[in-house]
Amino acid sequence: MVLGLTHQVPSEELVSDMAASRPPADHTLEQFLMTRESLRKQVGFLASKFGQHQSIFIIGDDDHVSPLLAIICPRLMVTIIEIDGRVCDNLCRWRRRLGLTNLDVINLDIRQVNTCCFSGFDSFYANPPYSSKNDGHGLRAWAFVCLQACRDECRGVVAMPWMDHPEQWVRRNWVAMRAFLTSYGCSIVRHRAPLCEYGAIRHAGMRSWNWAVHRHTPLQGTPEPPAVGCALYR
Ligand SMILES: C[S@@+](CC[C@H](N)C(=O)[O-])C[C@H]1O[C@@H](n2cnc3c(N)ncnc32)[C@H](O)[C@@H]1O
Repeated sequence: MVLGLTHQVPSEELVSDMAASRPPADHTLEQFLMTRESLRKQVGFLASKFGQHQSIFIIGDDDHVSPLLAIICPRLMVTIIEIDGRVCDNLCRWRRRLGLTNLDVINLDIRQVNTCCFSGFDSFYANPPYSSKNDGHGLRAWAFVCLQACRDECRGVVAMPWMDHPEQWVRRNWVAMRAFLTSYGCSIVRHRAPLCEYGAIRHAGMRSWNWAVHRHTPLQGTPEPPAVGCALYR
């Protein structure tokens, strides 16, 4: 089925309907919903990066990127894990409504991923907790699990915190994340556009920018398993 498509960007109407249907943000899970305009641009950006790939692994999708990506990239198998059952239920409703056979929604905590069998994905997308109070742990934990789920040579996009005048913790997290990804054999390209905006943000001026990650040398850096309890987020 082809519904609401305009080349590689989903139609404004489809994005609006989907954005309006999202469950209210649960801030205890670091949910802050991307605005519908940012959502549309972000899906276009991801489609331009991964549209020709076979599979993508996504952790967390309160924004509802995954059904939009699945519909405009019909050859891409999209697998998403998400802790929030409300988000999973809504994503499944959209999967049925759009007749998507290339979207797999799994209600799972990132902390349980090691006990399951995720491997061999050729790309990933992570929009991690920005981790202002735990020295960037959430950023690295999301990237760590994504890299475990992907094959040695893979590509990914990580939505990183961005501010016009970055606070110290933002700069520190950039540096720590760069070091972490480098230790796993990744090179990093920073893309400013699109800068994504969110509703009800915690830090004034906070947006996200994409880091395009290319893992070409399969090094094993220091593992960063996701912390238990709130320590994962703050
Ligand atoms: C971590 S939030 C961050 C969003 C964005 N960085 C922001 O600040 O607006 C992104 C998604 O991850 C999900 N998530 C949070 N904790 C998770 C966990 N332990 N396992 C799997 N998904 C999780 C959230 O429910 C949400 O859908």
